[in-house]
Amino acid sequence: MFSGRSIIVGSGGGFDNVEVAVHDAKEPDSNEITVKLHANSLNYHDYAVVQGMWGPSEPRIPMADGAGEVIAVGEGVTEFKPGDAVVSTFFPTWLNGEPQVEGFATVPGDGVDGYAREFVTASCDAFTRAPMGWSHIESSTLTTAALTAWRALFCFDPVKPGDTVLIQGTGGVSIFALQFAKMAGATVIATSSSEAKIDRLKAMGADYTLNYKTEPNWGKLARHMTCGLGVDHIIEVGGAGTLDQSMDAVRVGGQILVIGILSGLSGEVNIVKALIKQARLQGVLVGSRAQQRDMVRAIDTNQIKPIVDKVFPLEEIVDAFKYQESNQHFGKICLEF
Ligand SMILES: NC(=O)c1ccc[n+]([C@@H]2O[C@H](COP(=O)([O-])OP(=O)(O)OC[C@H]3O[C@@H](n4cnc5c(N)ncnc54)[C@H](OP(=O)(O)O)[C@@H]3O)[C@@H](O)[C@H]2O)c1
Repeated sequence: MFSGRSIIVGSGGGFDNVEVAVHDAKEPDSNEITVKLHANSLNYHDYAVVQGMWGPSEPRIPMADGAGEVIAVGEGVTEFKPGDAVVSTFFPTWLNGEPQVEGFATVPGDGVDGYAREFVTASCDAFTRAPMGWSHIESSTLTTAALTAWRALFCFDPVKPGDTVLIQGTGGVSIFALQFAKMAGATVIATSSSEAKIDRLKAMGADYTLNYKTEPNWGKLARHMTCGLGVDHIIEVGGAGTLDQSMDAVRVGGQILVIGILSGLSGEVNIVKALIKQARLQGVLVGSRAQQRDMVRAIDTNQIKPIVDKVFPLEEIVDAFKYQESNQHFGKICLEF
């Protein structure tokens, strides 16, 4: 038995309903591993769970993204050994192939308990190995944001060298998409509401930048930046408030990867624009374990490092979410324990 600290969000959620508790993890059975967790990273999805926006109706250990070290393995486990650095998977039951999950019932930190805890014993499918040489904090950024960006860019109509990729804002998904797109030899158009963040985007290799606050019709401007051809791949994290601009920006036959809801859950869709552009609107919900393994291998080969904006101690999880709420961050916010 392994005993350590955990975070519990009480029934109904809310920042006033978050407590530090003690949690036990059992010895691993066959095909299970026990992991000593050292870090989490924050996503909008975790924020929604902690705030009780989508439930949970029962008390829950939050956080889908967890990284740490294997400390015990059950019978039959060949992929991992004690001492290995690992990172959690978003869908422990979606191992490979076509999407096999609808919704969040199997997702740690939502439908089942997550990784805001020091010890967990789980199926070995709930983790993959972490990138070589990464700290646990760095590895904790991969589960949700990085895998979403990876799958969007490489698992539908894959990005080719010379393609154009547009990213929206400077959150976790978009910054990973910038890094992966540059890795693939693409031209990147990046948007932000902040001139200071635009300077950082340029320093990271963004080829063109746009301020979506001062240029509300940024879709047409992005199209001009491609000599009028249009953007091949759009990382659509804004949602209802940005889709129309994305349809102006996308090239005929290009793809809009529908990922986020930062500007709202629903809105009008201009059907005529969509059919004239013959664009694919492709929904993306994170990815499979096999896709995560591919991503880790590509990270090792290309020596990418994540952009971690700020790290909070586990107990300060509410402060970390309040910081996320303020939109000051660039890249990822993490918890350390
Ligand atoms: N479908 C999936 O599998 C999946 C996976 C991960 C995340 N998501 C969703 O994707 C979205 C982004 O997630 P994240 O973790 O990257 O979020 P995040 O780190 O919290 O991103 C926040 C940043 O997004 C930018 N932003 C906010 N409102 C915007 C708008 N109206 N238009 C353009 N940019 C805007 C801002 O950048 P600036 O300050 O630079 O303006 C802000 O700092 C969220 O809605 C999240 O729920 C979906």
